[in-house]
Amino acid sequence: RTIEWRVDADAPKSEELMEAARLLREGQTVAFPTETVYGLGADARSDEAVARIFEAKGRPSDNPLIVHIADRAQLGALVLPWGELAERLMDRFWPGPLTLVLPAAPGAVSPRVTAGLDTVAVRMPSHPVALALIAASGCPVAAPSANRSGRPSPTLAAHVAGDLAGRIAGIVDGGAAGVGLESTVVEIEGETVRILRPGGVTAEALREVAARVEYDAVAAPGAAGSATAIGQAPERNAPPRGPGHTSLSAAPAVQPAADTAQAPALSADAALAPRSPGMKYAHYAPRGVMELVQGEAEARRAYIQREAHAARARGERVGILTFDEHAGLYDADDVISLGSLSRLDHAAQALYAALRAFDDRDAQRIWAEAVPETGIGHALMNRLVKAAGHRVVRV
Ligand code: TXA
Ligand code: MG
Repeated sequence: RTIEWRVDADAPKSEELMEAARLLREGQTVAFPTETVYGLGADARSDEAVARIFEAKGRPSDNPLIVHIADRAQLGALVLPWGELAERLMDRFWPGPLTLVLPAAPGAVSPRVTAGLDTVAVRMPSHPVALALIAASGCPVAAPSANRSGRPSPTLAAHVAGDLAGRIAGIVDGGAAGVGLESTVVEIEGETVRILRPGGVTAEALREVAARVEYDAVAAPGAAGSATAIGQAPERNAPPRGPGHTSLSAAPAVQPAADTAQAPALSADAALAPRSPGMKYAHYAPRGVMELVQGEAEARRAYIQREAHAARARGERVGILTFDEHAGLYDADDVISLGSLSRLDHAAQALYAALRAFDDRDAQRIWAEAVPETGIGHALMNRLVKAAGHRVVRV
């Protein structure tokens, strides 16, 4: 029931793409590649169309969607007049993996898109297939990542099909997505850019355009930082970082395995709502219980080897997420390398497929090595922490 079209990323304007655009115009859901991850699109103006997205994904209705445009001329109808800093960000980063949260023009999109907020998140993707599809549809296209809620975001059309085949009208297959992690979501307050979700555009790059760049607490580097010493219970929450800012909060999404006692997930604290509602959900989780390990390389290796050995002795299937430089050191059922530690951009591209691979192989326990939080490493760590359900140890 789900149509799949193969589209050449270099020459996207095909008959296939026109059919996909027509389905969008008619209120159907269509998945398509972007330069971050695959999105599941629908006409942002239509309640019915947007409802289909939430239904297909099993997404909580209080988590708002990003509206995708192909042309700056579409923006005026979606948001209130924007300031000079927003304009500079668009000039520098659009099209590309930056999402701007701006005051919404009343009635411009379905209230389901904004989940009742008076702001709307907008981005102009740079992937040629996404741009061509949005332009051909003539719609502002609401599109969350095209995965079942709680699963890793899809970086290949096959991931979308695995999660959503039979639940959506179509999938445009344009090959592998680019960055591999979602866009950076920011809000603007005066001269300050606040990062609500780290992503494809780094804080360093934002600083080239904005005088002040700060983080919502859930998005800050070191938000992994409620790291626990071995054998201690994890802290429930990181300390709040400022007025109106929130501490770590995540709902456990992983199925508890037989023995999770020494690595409990943090539980949700509904009172502490992050500025970006999606950040409160434990996304990106593989089905196995994952733990993220920080610390000096040798101590980390010893810890992971010991824990993995003990788990295997208990009869559990063990996965290890590591890098080329260390992959040979480990003995587990599934050792997956994200590539060289010197290429965190490649690791970002490989992360979600690796998490899915652990699921395919029924890994019950997964240990992952932490990475330095510089450049794209910050977004990568943000996703690793979530995949681990906030189980982070420092050794
Ligand atoms: O790279 C991406 O951004 C991908 C591709 C498909 O464009 N999309 C994506 O969408 O990651 P989604 O729905 O998985 O994540 C949207 C994020 C969520 O964290 C949501 O809470 C936040 O954007 N968001 C949406 N509207 C918002 C708003 N008005 N205020 C604050 N946060 C908002
Ligand atoms: Mg998502």
